[in-house]
Amino acid sequence: MLELAEQLQTQGLDELSRVSSADALEAWRLAYLAGSGKIKSVMAGFKDVPKDQKPAVGAKMNQVKAALEQAFEAKKSLIASSASATVQQLDVTEPGFVSTESVGRAHIITRVIEELCEVFGRMGFEVAEGPELEDDEHNFIKLNIPAGHPARDPADNFYVDDPRESVSPRMIRSQTSTVQVRVMEAAVKAGGGKLAHPIKIISPGRVYRPDTVDATHSFMFHQIEGLYLDRGVSMIDLKTTLLQFARAYFGEDAEVRLRPSYFPFTEPSAELDMKIRLRPDQPARWIELGGCGMVDPAVLQHCGIDPEEWTGFAFGFGIERIAMGRYSIPDIRLLFENDLRFLRQV
Ligand code: DAH
Repeated sequence: MLELAEQLQTQGLDELSRVSSADALEAWRLAYLAGSGKIKSVMAGFKDVPKDQKPAVGAKMNQVKAALEQAFEAKKSLIASSASATVQQLDVTEPGFVSTESVGRAHIITRVIEELCEVFGRMGFEVAEGPELEDDEHNFIKLNIPAGHPARDPADNFYVDDPRESVSPRMIRSQTSTVQVRVMEAAVKAGGGKLAHPIKIISPGRVYRPDTVDATHSFMFHQIEGLYLDRGVSMIDLKTTLLQFARAYFGEDAEVRLRPSYFPFTEPSAELDMKIRLRPDQPARWIELGGCGMVDPAVLQHCGIDPEEWTGFAFGFGIERIAMGRYSIPDIRLLFENDLRFLRQV
């Protein structure tokens, strides 16, 4: 029995040394210390120990029991303290403790841009980017807006270099049509001097014009440009694409119309209008979303593309207009003032 007691102690301490969680510790306690545990079952043999050995065996058993209980207590406080240490450790990947009141989110314009990219993405358009600091060549010349054209008036553009002194004055772009030119140039360069594959892109971004701020104008706003060049693209493709876009984004009953117009870089050109109710207390009105048309052959030639082989359509819409129509926002200034009372509603 002395030997059994000795074994019990060694085995118990050994198993306890491998315990590292509160659950495992409890299992160990049940196995050794509890009423149905091993100490009790060894003790059960005490009654058969010869009388003269009883004091020695009794003492040994008490010592084993005390040793295991003491080791158990020590392990228990070790596990408890390491658990609280873990809780206090800083996990930088954990989200912070903030009330839902103050959780931020992307600005409504950013979200509309993402939604537009998603809708056009489903129609096969890829997203292209271009610089906001541009030059005269990409903002005007290659888009068929030659020197002397009224659109180049310094009063209507933010020039960085003086257009009377510089040959290709820099400016912050007045339209995202600049990206059409950049994408076509890059594709021709990649094709070793000729266009080798169709182009189908959209390009959202900021544009700048020295307009006086009012309910529908701002000196900085966003446009989304589209360009699709392929063999045999026609006005029907343009109309279909825009109608599909309007239905996908504004709903099946979206009312849109194409109105004949003029742009130097498209022929024929049109404007896309949409019937929109900006205020619940007002009737829906036709609002112009932007321009579109078949890419003018001269623009293709300026970028080194053969207009006999490739045709395409382009469009450029105001993102603020789209956002105002989609979310019934009556004044463009609300989009830039960052008044939390507004931002929390949209
Ligand atoms: N760039 C024009 C503007 O700023 C909009 C536009 C019209 C873009 C016709 C186009 C287009 O791509 O084909 O008002």
